[in-house]
Amino acid sequence: MTTEQTTSPPRTGVGIRASGLGQSVRKGRRILDDISLAIQPGEVVAVIGASGAGKTTLLETLAGVRRPAAGTVSYDGATGGGAVGYVPQDDIIHRELPLERTLRYAARLRLPPPSGPVEVAERVAEVLAGLRLTERGDVPVGRLSGGERKRASIAVELLTRPGVFFLDEPTSGLDPAIAVDLLRVLRTLADAGTTVVLTTHQITDVEHCDRVVVLTRHGRLAFAGTPADAREFFGLRSLAEVHLRLDEETDPAALPDRFAAHRDADPPPGRPVEPAATGHRRVGRLRQLGVLAARNAEIVARNRLTLAILLGSPLMVLGMFALLFRPGAFDPARPSPTVTVMILFWIAFGGFFFGLTYGLLQICTELPILRRERFAGVRLAPYLAAKVAVLLPLLALVDLALLGVLRGIDRLPPVDGAGFAALYATLLLSSAAALTLGLLCSAAVSDAAQATLMLPMLCFPQVLFVGAILPVPAMAAGGQWLSYAMSNRWAFEGLGHTAGVERLWRDGASPLGPPLLATYGDSFSRPVWVNWLVLGGFVLLFLGATWVVLVRRESRRAS
Ligand SMILES: Nc1ncnc2c1ncn2[C@@H]1O[C@H](COP(=O)(O)OP(=O)(O)OP(=O)(O)O)[C@@H](O)[C@H]1O
Ligand SMILES: [Mg+2]
Repeated sequence: MTTEQTTSPPRTGVGIRASGLGQSVRKGRRILDDISLAIQPGEVVAVIGASGAGKTTLLETLAGVRRPAAGTVSYDGATGGGAVGYVPQDDIIHRELPLERTLRYAARLRLPPPSGPVEVAERVAEVLAGLRLTERGDVPVGRLSGGERKRASIAVELLTRPGVFFLDEPTSGLDPAIAVDLLRVLRTLADAGTTVVLTTHQITDVEHCDRVVVLTRHGRLAFAGTPADAREFFGLRSLAEVHLRLDEETDPAALPDRFAAHRDADPPPGRPVEPAATGHRRVGRLRQLGVLAARNAEIVARNRLTLAILLGSPLMVLGMFALLFRPGAFDPARPSPTVTVMILFWIAFGGFFFGLTYGLLQICTELPILRRERFAGVRLAPYLAAKVAVLLPLLALVDLALLGVLRGIDRLPPVDGAGFAALYATLLLSSAAALTLGLLCSAAVSDAAQATLMLPMLCFPQVLFVGAILPVPAMAAGGQWLSYAMSNRWAFEGLGHTAGVERLWRDGASPLGPPLLATYGDSFSRPVWVNWLVLGGFVLLFLGATWVVLVRRESRRAS
């Protein structure tokens, strides 16, 4: 990698000062305790310590991902939001997309306006070359090797030319040669002016760093200085034994106290710091929406299996309809009232189920990416709007195909064009409500396994409390109340109103009609637009709740 490739235009170095940093978690347990540090511009610094010592917490606090509970962090020569690169331990890129496409989307989300396609392409090519990934640009991220994927996550963060760069365990899981290679890349960045702070469990990494920060098991600072000074301070020939040395200390405060005394006698030398660069400008909401929607669409289109399931499940549902129900249930001369109830219910449930499954895996599968992109300035409103903008048109297609084919095979009420449009509007609104319910649950869970477990819990009440298997007036009081909260109930009753089931049951030739109508009361009397309003209300409610859940998740993590 040549220096020019990552440094044009020239960058200012960023020094970091932390003073009296503290973090604690519930029940007041301290996880970082009184940490004071000075990191010079252009240094490579390793943070080491036992598992659970607080390395990630310190890194997040220094990077501004987490607010310090005590003390302060300041950057000398800092620029705005784009000046900080943060590579968490999890991958922060979608596995479906080819590397170069991923970087282009990331660049369009992060590079300040007015970066056009030419600037974006140039910067992406520059970063790929700098990390020796040019040849891998066409390979889907999921098929890169572990080391390449790590470099790919780093590439995303280098796009904005950060002045300070934090990496959480960048070498974990890499073979030693690739780890050394990665450290060399980081060294080249530092030589070009970027300050690099990383955590590591590989003591050999420390020898490639200018300074090492050692944390005790209790989140206190046992040492900060050059690796050579560290060996001298701990009285060790190799830092490989530093954890043993820390564990041998019976008094947890002894080393931090000794280091504090040692440091007072020998304060770290200061270096002049470049003045602040220009402030970083955020990409506007509309552009974020456009880029995120395009990326979502490409992810869906590239994941052939998901696409096949999304588009194939309506085919399966249609097949089941054809096998289960005889044609002509809505024929006024020979109506089958109980069959009409079931057909309308299962249409409503189909729309609900498609929407729910489309939404349920959308957010939980990309939480680390979302977290990182939020830190880089992505807003939640365009993020959520971009999900709906891509998935709703897909649902619209699927719902239209479902109704169109059912009509073709005579399983639908014989409505005119306006009636068909009303049935379609009800079904699409029902799918939209379920999609946003899926997004809400996806935002609330931690991973895809939990989301999948929620599916039956979400579906059961939408079958039982809708009023199809048991009419709402016949339910116990609690069930009647619960039925109001089921979006499917409003879809089912709206479909029934448009299908004219009341007239069909009252005036049709079947003797079963009038008693059935009596059990349903006025369930289907409500004008269909009232059902639409309620379904639209569910959409807004679920979207708002998704937003609140994501914001709360973030503030819990940040505090
Ligand atoms: N948000 C949180 N809520 C509760 N406990 C937390 C939170 N964040 C960190 N901790 C706890 O704080 C301690 C330090 O965590 P941290 O992740 O910083 O350790 P670490 O040194 O990075 O460990 P590892 O080497 O295993 O990655 C751990 O005991 C962890 O369980
Ligand atoms: Mg960690």
